[in-house]
Amino acid sequence: MPLSHGEPVILGIESSCDETAAAVMVGGRVLSNVIATQEVHTRWGGVVPELASRAHQEHIVPVVKEAMSTAGIRNEELSGIAFTQGPGLIGALLVGTCFARSMAQALRIPLLAVDHIQAHVLAHLVRDGVDRPAPEFPFLNLTVSGGHTQLVLVRSPLDMRILGSTMDDAAGEAFDKGAKILGLPYPGGPLIDRYAAEYQATNGNAAATTFSMPVPAMTGLNFSFSGIKTAFSQLVRKGISADPAFIELHRNELCAALQNSIIDHLLAKARRAMREQNLERIGIAGGVASNSGLRQRLEELGAREGWQVFIPPHAYCTDNAAMIAMAGHFLLEAGRYAPLDTVPVARILG
Ligand code: KG4
Ligand code: ZN
Repeated sequence: MPLSHGEPVILGIESSCDETAAAVMVGGRVLSNVIATQEVHTRWGGVVPELASRAHQEHIVPVVKEAMSTAGIRNEELSGIAFTQGPGLIGALLVGTCFARSMAQALRIPLLAVDHIQAHVLAHLVRDGVDRPAPEFPFLNLTVSGGHTQLVLVRSPLDMRILGSTMDDAAGEAFDKGAKILGLPYPGGPLIDRYAAEYQATNGNAAATTFSMPVPAMTGLNFSFSGIKTAFSQLVRKGISADPAFIELHRNELCAALQNSIIDHLLAKARRAMREQNLERIGIAGGVASNSGLRQRLEELGAREGWQVFIPPHAYCTDNAAMIAMAGHFLLEAGRYAPLDTVPVARILG
């Protein structure tokens, strides 16, 4: 695709957890979006930081090369390099940070330091040739990933205010820990989704399971998932002691019960925030936004409440570099360049 005059060309790099990803974006349109997922963690039941860093080292050069060649962009055509500065695993972040710093220095172009969680929200604004409306500002975003669960008031691409967040586990962790209790491999979220959908297909209504799960007692707009995890663990333990084949016999229903209780909690808080802030537009983002039950129930709730609902395609929900390039696009536009000695941060506050 020929470059239009004056449109910024951004290379985005993501290496915060177990995905090495690179994307090229021109004027907010994705030209390439490459992801190398690290399979090495599955057998350990979770991400092993040391293994993640090594795998990023192996993948980063081929992943960036592929993103550039698929986009048909030469190094000299780049306007800026965006990378995930944090939050994430420090050893994993270091790989992307060092790579981006060196490349920006060699090409003498701006370095753009991106907050991974803000980038998840900006997935709503990524354009890729498919006709999809982007939310107007302000809107509420429910950001649900493996590390974070937040209700965010999005006033503009670079102006976001956190209204509520989790006090313990993130929504993705609640899925993954629940899956582990059932003996499912990491990451368990997509499997819970699949088995809950099977339950829904057989029973017609995913909300109705015979297992009762607690409603977390969290005031205000904050979340808590530890009670759900404990109750689920007790439910499974009790079931197994009565019948060793309990999980096998009730797998789909157990997954539906867990998923429903997580979604109930997420949507109850989102609804409260929408009312308190008097908003009409809501979006979801992050890995858990891939969950088919959450997507469906948000659409249904939105229709009842008269909200406009925004759900990014799956490729932009789970970790990807298109969202990093999107954030870089706005940082470049705002002239917010990072110094070449910028270091990664495991936690970004606020
Ligand atoms: O955003 P993400 O890719 O990485 C982080 O920034 O954390 O989110 C990963 C999380 C994992 O906990 C994974 O189990 C969960 O998202 N996840 C899902 C689904 N797909 C990914 N959880 C429920 N249903 C899904 N379909
Ligand atoms: Zn993420």
